[in-house]
Amino acid sequence: MQINSTEILFSEELEINENLKDFVLQQQVYRAAIKEIKTKLEILDEEFEARYDHNPIHHMEYRLKAPKSIVEKLKRRGLEVSLDSIRKNLTDIAGVRVICNYLNDINRITNLLLRQDDITLVRKTDYITNPKENGYRSLHLIVLVPIFLAERTESIPVEIQIRTIAMDFWASLEHQLKYKTQNEISEDLRDRLKSCAESITHLDVEMQTIYKEIKSETFLDA
Ligand code: GTP
Ligand code: MG
Repeated sequence: MQINSTEILFSEELEINENLKDFVLQQQVYRAAIKEIKTKLEILDEEFEARYDHNPIHHMEYRLKAPKSIVEKLKRRGLEVSLDSIRKNLTDIAGVRVICNYLNDINRITNLLLRQDDITLVRKTDYITNPKENGYRSLHLIVLVPIFLAERTESIPVEIQIRTIAMDFWASLEHQLKYKTQNEISEDLRDRLKSCAESITHLDVEMQTIYKEIKSETFLDA
């Protein structure tokens, strides 16, 4: 496996009692957890396609939290910078973002995933029913998935963000805008961004309704 310079820098931060090999092994376990979740979701999407001629998932994105961000987050929270502390305190090292086509697909995918025997739900935050103050919408799950290694089984947390294409459009641009400005965004701009989030909610509801109507017409024609 290739070891990049950021990982070496990170290992220096871990100080005396840990070595790079342990860190790389741990990274590999988080990568495996992403693969497990990705496969589970792909299987559900493919079954839906075969059964109902509908794909709930538009696409997925994955990320392993960069070593630099891991260290920054631990320090920000005043926690020890060690592998043990990462395992204990951080649940977002492995991240999967699921972008669904329609609003109903979000609950559909969530329920089917959480029903699986080897998945344990740690936390569910529903920013769709209760959007954040700035207008952000998504369903966030932290789940544990078992990873079977040569000598032991590890239960690994994965952060899953589930949202529609429309919610993803808003969140991506809002994220970019936040990083573009050095200063706090003015109240006027915050209000306008929030009103964009509200327009997007109407779009999601309307697209869902159109989809349902077309489906029922097609069904009647058949
Ligand atoms: P952190 O992981 O420390 O940020 O806090 P948390 O675990 O309480 O996080 P939360 O579930 O609120 O958010 C986790 C992730 O959701 C972030 O890393 C973003 O990817 C996404 N997110 C949350 N709030 C926003 C937001 O207001 N705008 C955008 N664009 N993304 C957000
Ligand atoms: Mg987080």
